[in-house]
Amino acid sequence: MTDPPGGIDPAVRAEQLRDLIEYHNDRYHHLDAPEIPDAEYDALVRELLAIESDHPDLRVPDSPTGSVGAPASTLFSPVAHRVPMMSLDNAFNPGELEAWADRLAKHIPADTAFVCELKIDGVAMSLTYEHGRYVQAATRGDGRVGEDVTANVATIADIPDSLDSSVKAPAVIEVRGEVYMPIAAFEELNRRQAETEGRLFVNPRNSAAGSLRQKDASVTATRALSFWAYQVGDLQPQTDPPGSTLPEELVSSHASTLAWLGRAGFPINPEHRVVHGLSEALAFCRHWEEHRHDLGYEIDGVVVKVDDLSLQRRLGATSRAPRWAIAYKFPPEERTTRLRAIEVSIGRTGKATPFAVLEPVFVGGSTVSLATLHNEDQVRAKDVRPGEDVVVRKAGDVIPEVVGPVLVGAQGKPRRPPEWTFPVVCPSCGAPLARLEGESDTFCTNLDCPGQRVQRISHFGSRSAMDIEGLGEQRVELFVGRGLLVDVADLYSFTPDTFAGIEGFGALSIANLLGAIEASRSRPLHRLLVGLGIRHLGQVGSLALARAFGTLDGIVSAGEPALAAVDGVGPIIAASVAEWFASEVNRGVVDRLRRAGVNVEEPGRGEVVGGAVGVPFADRTLVGKSVVVTGTLEGLTREEAEEAIVARGGKSPGSVSKRTFAVVLGESPGASKVTKAEQLGIPVVNGVEQFVALLETGELPSKG
Ligand code: IVH
Repeated sequence: MTDPPGGIDPAVRAEQLRDLIEYHNDRYHHLDAPEIPDAEYDALVRELLAIESDHPDLRVPDSPTGSVGAPASTLFSPVAHRVPMMSLDNAFNPGELEAWADRLAKHIPADTAFVCELKIDGVAMSLTYEHGRYVQAATRGDGRVGEDVTANVATIADIPDSLDSSVKAPAVIEVRGEVYMPIAAFEELNRRQAETEGRLFVNPRNSAAGSLRQKDASVTATRALSFWAYQVGDLQPQTDPPGSTLPEELVSSHASTLAWLGRAGFPINPEHRVVHGLSEALAFCRHWEEHRHDLGYEIDGVVVKVDDLSLQRRLGATSRAPRWAIAYKFPPEERTTRLRAIEVSIGRTGKATPFAVLEPVFVGGSTVSLATLHNEDQVRAKDVRPGEDVVVRKAGDVIPEVVGPVLVGAQGKPRRPPEWTFPVVCPSCGAPLARLEGESDTFCTNLDCPGQRVQRISHFGSRSAMDIEGLGEQRVELFVGRGLLVDVADLYSFTPDTFAGIEGFGALSIANLLGAIEASRSRPLHRLLVGLGIRHLGQVGSLALARAFGTLDGIVSAGEPALAAVDGVGPIIAASVAEWFASEVNRGVVDRLRRAGVNVEEPGRGEVVGGAVGVPFADRTLVGKSVVVTGTLEGLTREEAEEAIVARGGKSPGSVSKRTFAVVLGESPGASKVTKAEQLGIPVVNGVEQFVALLETGELPSKG
């Protein structure tokens, strides 16, 4: 039984749900400003469907469960679809997909073929061609009547004005598909919107919808919209000569229909497949659930369709959706949850970063309870307020993000809690926080701030720096709190007695930690430089300086111009390094590190980057080339891989751009880098063997 929880009368709840669904339909379809993620909308529809199925007396003729979308708005002229544009039933897990196949099994042969397609997250569109010529484009609207967007859609380059002459054009054909905006185009559009203080779009689908809903088609023309065709609506044979027939492909199977549409000039998504049996369909769904971020556009599931068109006709449709197809929906990457508080964390440079403390929510494959808000301006732009519900997004390996508030509910406008204001004092030490004119970041002004100290010391011990295993942030916090650590040099005077009386430190963990500290004394100079946490100085710059000057003294006495002259360094890093070493406090720390026996030399000293020891000058195969590494390569740390590139004269930045020569893919690569490489057409080097070949020859692996 699915009666609403808490003893609410099902009749009352059904009424509430209808109001809510209609309200959200309007926000989504007419205003292009949805307030809740799709998954939550789907949950409302499902709840209403369940009540209506348990209480048939509560069904009403105009229930939103009996229709799709929302009635067409009055902004564009109405268009009656010759064949209704239906919605799809959803399966939210393999069990529901199986249940659909079981229902079909009674009516179709056991070896029925299915076509699996990506479910594109865009705007459904019906294009009418008469005698091969484009005459009209209409949105779905309520499924029966949509909106005339002919002029706007005509600006989409993917959509042909006329069918290719190699196909036999029917008298009328409605080609259906999805108008979408590729992710890169969406990001670019939002960058432009931000610059011109225009409205920001929340996701690519809304930006596609907003771009179509322009009174002036020349605005649509500036938006990079694309199209995938996936279905035929109305189809009428030519009447002249009498007895003309329809192309066989369009009446026999869905797969052949797609092939015909492709020949007629429509973009057909290449990732579709004919499968036999449910387990193959499920494997397709699982594959794309895992790889959805490898695509340059958003998908929210897979559509499984019965291939044989005569079987499709036999199966028919309900009032809302065909029985011969189902949408397998991926778990949502956006959910709403309560924003409990906004807090500020202090980084090692003193930067105060606001972050959202959330009611834990399962989204994008993990439970999220914290999300960064970047800086004061971002909190203001997003207008998120503690105590309100917010939309949280977590896509792939991208860090969780608060998209914005869930504003007005169907119940009317609630009074909003007050705006959040950036604290004026550091939450760790109470010193004033300062934001410089023209900068977006806020900083704690106290160099002795324990919050900064904890971050600085944990960073010193981190893997990319001095790699001191067992020195995590919690332990550093404990030691700083007990006054055992004031700066990084204090680590090297630790003895077993240091830990006397600290709970949780047995002989073994003490020995391990002391051993790890001991081992860190012999790290090469560039690791020490990374560990000092000098602003702007990352791994590449540290390595360049260490190689160029060989010793710490060499760097300290070099002077700013000489630092800036090093390849891979430049004036900003040079100024920051010079300023860091000009501080008496910092020099004191460095002296104590040196006296503690910490190595301050670089093997391969005096060599410029790219001429490292072990790599003869002649083997500088990557001079001037920028190679990005993502994921783990067998037998190499990320740092080693990057060092190998730099040692050969190349650069290894952390992000992909159009200047990137190649992207090296290891295990579990970062989805955003893969997507970016794909969008920009950057060559990919797969795994350690191809990487070694690239290092040796400086050339890309040949295809095939
Ligand atoms: S077939 C009658 N195929 O999903 C069947 N729809 O939730 C018509 N969609 O209204 C739809 N990708 O806007 C189909 N490969 C695909 C699709 C797809 C995205 C959209 C379409 C539809 C909605 C249903």
